[in-house]
Amino acid sequence: MTQVLKIEGQHPLKGTVRISGSKNATVALIPATILSSQGPVSIIGVPHISDVESLNQLLSFLNVEVATPTEGHLIIDPTNLKNMSLDHPAVNKLRASYYFMGALLGRFKEVKMKMPGGCYLGPRPIDLHLKGFEALGASVEYTQGYYHIKAEKLIGNKIFLDISSVGATINIMLAATLAQGRTTIENAAKEPEIIDVANMLNRMGANIKGAGTNVITIEGVDHLGGTFHEIIPDRIEAGTYMIIAAAAAEEMMIDNVIPQHVESLISKLKDMGVSVEVEKDHVIIKKGQNLKPVDVKTLPYPGFATDLQQPLTTLLTQAHGESIVNETIYTERFKHCLELQRLGANITLSPATSIIKGATPLFGDHVTATDLRCGASLVVAGLIAQGTTTIHDVYHIDRGYDELDQKLIALGAKITRVDLE
Ligand code: EPU
Repeated sequence: MTQVLKIEGQHPLKGTVRISGSKNATVALIPATILSSQGPVSIIGVPHISDVESLNQLLSFLNVEVATPTEGHLIIDPTNLKNMSLDHPAVNKLRASYYFMGALLGRFKEVKMKMPGGCYLGPRPIDLHLKGFEALGASVEYTQGYYHIKAEKLIGNKIFLDISSVGATINIMLAATLAQGRTTIENAAKEPEIIDVANMLNRMGANIKGAGTNVITIEGVDHLGGTFHEIIPDRIEAGTYMIIAAAAAEEMMIDNVIPQHVESLISKLKDMGVSVEVEKDHVIIKKGQNLKPVDVKTLPYPGFATDLQQPLTTLLTQAHGESIVNETIYTERFKHCLELQRLGANITLSPATSIIKGATPLFGDHVTATDLRCGASLVVAGLIAQGTTTIHDVYHIDRGYDELDQKLIALGAKITRVDLE
């Protein structure tokens, strides 16, 4: 059974939306917990998304106990962890299952798992993760769809990342926490989620310095133990609601935000003529009148996030003039444009670039969420379109947005979720 979202457009939104814990931090924090050989790790602020369900299935498969005393609170006890070959179907459901590579390699010096899945955004190699594991002394074999990575012992090393990859930075950090000696990751990614993971690992007993800068140093320790951790707010969910507010809200307060994490978006929205009020932990946004076009180039943090490029494109269809979006992280991340064209957008694609001419009215139709943030861009479109927009393959949206339809309904949107046979 699949589900669709039916959005009746042009109902003005108003009120407050509370941002959940960061998906991209959570999907690394959960695998990181299995590095504890001494007691459970308690995490709060866990978003209600299907990626978490997939990771919990993998934890159970590895014989890790998971309790959920209250909504958003996970207690993960890896005391009886077993190093199983990860051939579980959940591995295919999300990219971040690859964090079990670094975590299991750190704990057992050996891991076997299939190729991770996740959103198709063009090629997504993991060569830098593997290069990092090899630099720590591991051998990597890939046969019949399985990675087999093992080491006699892991020994700290200096690792330069050709590209500042979020996944490779975290995965190497996970493996290196229990390696012997010092590991230095140079040209490390600087995303806030990396700092969140390093903070939790340090409270578990790791010795990591420099997370959030492009040089991270990890002094290996003998073992890690349990801790308590609260996840940072999701900057991409916050950014998505900020874009929704700029497109369709009389006034919206986006609460539980770290404004610094969404600075590049705030700056773009202001350039477009949107009214943005920034407070310590929330922002207030009103629908922009006479929106101006802007050019956007996606870049590693603190540059403009690739994950917000797709929802912002929908807003750009409402700006008067030509906007150019240049995607430098995933050069094929443009499937949403084809869906937006169905709704009336005027978008021309050329390699790694979309050119959006506005303002064009949008009209409801059937569209498909081809990936998570494509889904978000279609939700923004549905909210501003005339008539009803039906979004298929909603499971992509459910992977990463906590109760999206419920949060929007509370703001005044007319959305129904319908089961299709
Ligand atoms: N890359 C390589 N080799 C590698 C790893 C990455 O060439 O070994 C390249 C990628 O192909 C890409 C660039 O490096 O061109 C950056 O990729 P990165 O590794 O930073 O991405 P990721 O860790 O796979 C995370 C987020 C993505 C987000 C990117 C970029 C998670 C689980 N995913 O992916 O989030 O787009 O960083 O910020 O943290 C999403 O939430 O919708 C999403 C796709």
